[in-house]
Amino acid sequence: MQQRAVHDSEVRRLIAVWNALAPPLRPSPSDVELFAQSLEKWDEPRIMVQGATPELVDLALRNNAKRAIAMDYSISSLTAMQQLACEDWSRLEYYQNDWRVFAPELEGTVDAVLGDGTLTMLDFPKEWEDVIRNFKRYLVQGGRLVLRLGFLAEEPFHIDSYIRSLLSNVASRSARAEPEERRRMLREMVSEARIAFGIASAEANGVVNPSLRAEMVSLFHNDCEARFACFKEWESVRPGIPSPLDVWKENRSGKSFPPWEETADLLQVCGFYIKSIQGSGTRPFPGAMRLLVAERD
Ligand SMILES: C[S@@+](CC[C@H](N)C(=O)[O-])C[C@H]1O[C@@H](n2cnc3c(N)ncnc32)[C@H](O)[C@@H]1O
Repeated sequence: MQQRAVHDSEVRRLIAVWNALAPPLRPSPSDVELFAQSLEKWDEPRIMVQGATPELVDLALRNNAKRAIAMDYSISSLTAMQQLACEDWSRLEYYQNDWRVFAPELEGTVDAVLGDGTLTMLDFPKEWEDVIRNFKRYLVQGGRLVLRLGFLAEEPFHIDSYIRSLLSNVASRSARAEPEERRRMLREMVSEARIAFGIASAEANGVVNPSLRAEMVSLFHNDCEARFACFKEWESVRPGIPSPLDVWKENRSGKSFPPWEETADLLQVCGFYIKSIQGSGTRPFPGAMRLLVAERD
């Protein structure tokens, strides 16, 4: 498998950023369990992971996969994600490719395509449609597309009150926590806020308005910094390593959080039928995070 050196500066940055993130931005153990359940119909599935999400590549390798492929266009990202993984990735086939470009040699070769937060990185609906059609062609008949994605909130979603309650909840719980536990809470808070900012700054068609998101991030940033003096503690514990506060300021969370109904229609138009759709995440808005299993006609 082709790799970058682990000390490459971009690889180091990616490792640090992903270490500062947690569920719900990264899949939780219960999300991984849902992905695993969607594979139960095969004894030795051939699995393609869209991207190089460590939890999903590990799942494929643990799951007796006959073939495990990771399709991602960034070697740096693949190298970084491998550092965050638990399994031995020597059996993983790395396929360096942009998801939007069809790879003919993979046509009809996989039982399942797994993705976490992946279509979120692309423009809805055009690029979603192109990529879903490509994945359909990689799947055998009866093959499954299993994706965990964020969607526009169906209930009115007030980012101000949401973030204020998130900050005060974490501030009160973290005051009593041990340092390691406090760091975990901060990682989760930043991960949740990052998705919330994305969803709240998406227009009705689901496309994120980047300047609106930047405004929201900076509006709450001072509040966040003032409440969490312990971010300073993090900095002194790991000098030079981005803290969750730096990651908060990064202001990235994907391009599209579309309405669920439109996504369901798109999947059907592309030749999938939806087997199941489940919520992912614990607090009220992350109800908009969903794990969907769609089967190829
Ligand atoms: C899995 S996605 C996002 C994960 C995360 N759950 C989130 O919501 O921010 C990140 C990975 O997708 C890869 N990626 C993004 N766009 C891509 C594209 N068009 N083709 C191939 N890989 C892509 C990046 O290189 C990176 O490894």
